[in-house]
This record gives sequence, structure tokens and C-alpha cells, in this order.
Amino acid sequence: MTLQKIKIQGGIPLSGEIAISGAKNAALPLMAAALLTDKPLVLTNMPNLADITSMQALLDQHGVHLSNDASQKTLTLTAQTIHNTTAPYDIVRKMRASILVLGPILARCGQAQVSLPGGCAIGVRPIDIHLNGLRDLGAEIELIDGYIHARAPNGLSGTTITFPVVSVTGTENLMMAACLAKGESRLVNAAREPEIIDLANCLISMGAEITGAGTDTITIQGKKHLTGTTHRVIPDRIETGTYAMAAAITKGSIHLTNTSLNLIPTVSSLLQKAGVSLVETSTGFQVQASQESHQGVDIMTEPFPGFATDLQAQMMALMTICQGASLVTETIWENRFMHVPELCRMGANITVHGPSALVRGVPQLNGAPVMATDLRASVCLVLAGLAAEGETIINRVYHLDRGYERVEDKLGMCGARIERIDE
Ligand code: EPU
Repeated sequence: MTLQKIKIQGGIPLSGEIAISGAKNAALPLMAAALLTDKPLVLTNMPNLADITSMQALLDQHGVHLSNDASQKTLTLTAQTIHNTTAPYDIVRKMRASILVLGPILARCGQAQVSLPGGCAIGVRPIDIHLNGLRDLGAEIELIDGYIHARAPNGLSGTTITFPVVSVTGTENLMMAACLAKGESRLVNAAREPEIIDLANCLISMGAEITGAGTDTITIQGKKHLTGTTHRVIPDRIETGTYAMAAAITKGSIHLTNTSLNLIPTVSSLLQKAGVSLVETSTGFQVQASQESHQGVDIMTEPFPGFATDLQAQMMALMTICQGASLVTETIWENRFMHVPELCRMGANITVHGPSALVRGVPQLNGAPVMATDLRASVCLVLAGLAAEGETIINRVYHLDRGYERVEDKLGMCGARIERIDE
């Protein structure tokens, strides 16, 4: 693998239009849902991302037939038979969302073996909620040699599962498993993210009976079989928020299309409070930065509809050049401030106090060589580089390719001087 860097010449206000891609974190569980039926599942508006390629590799080795029409952004998945119920370490370690195959394979085949995902840059990322929920549905689960061994030889049985913590992929895994369990399941304290609603809508059109998705209690009536369908992936709300912040930080103006303000309720009201204008259009919304400095606003990450943790780093980049101060509190991941020292190398004034970072606005950032540590931290450094005076070089760009499709093309079309270079 050639290591690549991104080089940015900053200080140019962005202007133009960006089409938002389908959501990575909706597409990944939707792909896993294909395991629940022997009929084809056709997913449209698929993003072209490294994580999607990893999920394809995982499903392929389980026996899923995949047919990808990249020009149409369409992926057809057919799990006529699942000939291998093991998700191996080599794929799972690259992408934690691999855990999403556990519920569907167990529910369909009566057994599944999935490698334990291991550590992750942004925090511990346990999976106890997934495992305890499956135990509640009647599965026997053992951990042997780094693998989860789940068995339900007589099938899963519906029950009430109360989540101790709101978990996005935990809710998705159990919602999928419950679709093939006997009787009724209730998921209490379920995640309410738009990706959960999207998955429920797809499962319903595959023949599942689900009510309450988007609220904190989801009820599922189990079915013997699900069938195939065609489903359009919702727009990526994290990409949407990221490019809205790119317009704001460069004092530019961007029309974001194929998306909607409804996907980012708290983020949009905080951006407006900071002085950014967001105006709905027929295809998305127009972002217009204030020509004055934006105002610092306080942010606390929370499960949806709260401020998304996946936009915390990007919002912090914007806050570094705001007037006044901003207190950024991260409540979801315990180690998601790794962008802070990198932003400080570019001239930001940030001090971390436990789960909070106090950002005191500075008049400008200055370009510097910086290191990306995870997906959202990388794009935060891209935003900082776009706003900074001079040249910024971002190392370890492979993180970006996991979740942002053609990032340099999309920004380049809006006037950014950004290019990918080989090391
Ligand atoms: N948690 C537990 N036990 C579990 C599962 C989670 O204690 O079994 C805790 C976590 O430690 C965390 C909290 O619950 O403190 C929430 O974690 P959640 O399970 O919701 O996270 P996830 O499902 O693993 C998804 C996204 C993440 C995003 C989080 C929070 C996908 C594929 N991933 O992860 O996205 O940060 O929800 O919104 O949907 C990203 O795209 O960059 C990314 C990291």
C-alpha cells in the first residue's frame, strides 16, 4: 500500500456545490441485512468507500454473492446460502462494524463465530450490549481464543431487551436478529439515529414487522423468512455536517445537494447560533458563512437527536477561529480528542480538561504538517488546513478514504487547493 498525504494551500473561501453521498453508517448495516434472506437485496445510492469494500470482502467470504454497479452506485447482495459462519480477525480488526454480521448470521444459521474487534483509536469500544442482547434472545455465547462463539440451535426467541447504554450498532444487530426470532421482541432505550430508521424501513420492505424505529422503543414481530427488496441508502449526515463546516470555516458559500437539514437538527441550530446561515432548498440547503468571525458556541456530544460525536472534531476546527470561547464536551468516546494537539500545532488555543476541551478563538490558523489518527480527526485537519494561512500536509490519509468519498475532488470543485500526493 502506498502511503498518501493530502496537501492543502489554505485561505481560499469555498464556493460551489457538493453532492452528498449515501451514508456509510447506514450502508454497512443494510449490507449485513442481506444475510437475513436468500433473495437479492438491491441497495442504491451506495457510497464508494474503503469501509464498504471491507464489508463486501467480509460478506463475500460468508458466501454472499455481490454484484457492484459502481456507475449506478448500486450493489446487489444475494445470500442464497451462507457457507461460512465465521467472521475472521483479519477483516474484523480493520473495521469494527463487522460485528453487524453477528446477529443476522446467528438468527439465520443458528450459529456464528465473529472475531473480537479489539482496540480502537477513539476508545475502548466494548460489545457487551450486543452479546447480552443476543443472550436475552436465547443465544449461548462463549469467548474462545479471541472469537465470539454464538449458538442458538433451536432458533432465537423474542423478548424484551433493555439497553443499559444507547448503542447504534447494538440496536441494529438486535433489530436484525429479532426479525427472524420466534414471537415479539422489544428493544428499550434503543438508539434513534436516522440510520436506525433507514435499516428498519429496509427490513420492513423485506417483509419484517417493525414499529417504533426512531423512538426509544422498537417492537419487532419475528418472521420465519424475509425476502429481497430494493432500498435507497439515506444521505450521509456526517458528510453533510462536515461540508457545511468547511463552508463556514473558509468563510465561503456552498450548496449541499442530495441531503436535508432534517438529518442534522442539533448541528444546524448550533451552526446558526455561531452565525452561519443555512437555507433549505429543493435539493438540500445553502450554507453561507458570516463575513465576520463566527461566535464560539458550547457543544456536548450525545446520541441522536443530540450533537453527533462524529462531527465533534470538525466543529472544534471551526471553533478554533471563532470569537470568544467554546467548551466542547465529548460524552460518547473517552479518547476522541486526538486532533487537539494537531490543531494546536496549527496555532489553535485548546486545553483539555477530562472529557471537555476549552477552545479559545484565535484570529487565524497557520499551515503545518499534521498526522491523522482516525477518520473524523483526519477530516477535521482538512478543514483546519483549508482555513489556515499557508501549506498543510496531512499524513495517513487512508483514514479519510474509509468515510469520505473523493474528498479532494468535492472540495476542489469548490475552489479548494487540495491534492493527494504519494509519500
Ligand atoms: N458501548 C458499550 N457497550 C457496547 C456497545 C457500546 O458500552 O456493547 C458504549 C460505547 O463504549 C460508547 C457508547 O456505548 O461509549 C456508544 O457506542 P455505540 O455502540 O453507539 O457506537 P457504535 O455503534 O460502535 C456507531 C458509529 C460510530 C459512531 C457511534 C456513536 C457505525 C458503523 N459506527 O458506532 O461511527 O461514532 O455509533 O454515534 O454506525 C465513525 O463513523 O467515524 C464512527 C466511529
